[in-house]
Amino acid sequence: MACNVVVLISGSGSNLQALIDSQDEDNPARIRAVISNRADAYGLQRAQAAGIPTRVLPHRDFADREAFDAALMQAIDAHQPDLVVLAGFMRILTPGFVRHYRGRLLNIHPSLLPRHKGLDTHRRALEAGDSEHGCSVHFVTEELDGGPVAIQATLAIEPGETLDDLAQRVHVAEHQIYPLAMRWFAEGRLHLAEQGAMLDGATLPASGYPIRT
Ligand code: GAR
Repeated sequence: MACNVVVLISGSGSNLQALIDSQDEDNPARIRAVISNRADAYGLQRAQAAGIPTRVLPHRDFADREAFDAALMQAIDAHQPDLVVLAGFMRILTPGFVRHYRGRLLNIHPSLLPRHKGLDTHRRALEAGDSEHGCSVHFVTEELDGGPVAIQATLAIEPGETLDDLAQRVHVAEHQIYPLAMRWFAEGRLHLAEQGAMLDGATLPASGYPIRT
């Protein structure tokens, strides 16, 4: 049976593209809609090119975070999603929103969580002299960038590596692990339980399913 997915974006949507490209007959995930809080998000064009319905919901049109999130929930729920995927959606979500989608809300974050929560992660990894960096797909909970990790891709930082090179390599890894997470969720293999993220009936380690690139 198909797994209805709604993807939220704010920008380029390269992760959205990877998710779109991963849809095939063997994959039960079906992206039913793409919603952006910014009208100029390039990801909207990617969705349209793939024949996926889009919707723009500018957060500035709403009095406060609660009002925006209420409208966002309504727009999402019109598509009866089994899964909501945050793909570069640069908004802090209200606790009510996060609770409403508990267990069916995934985010991708460009760091080895719990290290480097928040913004500017590649620069911070370099400045800290980290030997490794990467990206994490996690279930969203009320703690910002703090929910149980499902999959984490780790890469070694090369000596003298530039910010651009590192960001580029992390992006490539993101495009591997996000489609994998969406597919595992759609297949019923990945879910959130009391004790954390679970894959095939076993609790995953705190750092998620490891991918080495
Ligand atoms: C990605 O690198 C994603 O990890 C990051 O935004 C980028 C979106 O790129 N998300 C966050 O930083 C969330 N805190 P994309 O629009 O090309 O997919």
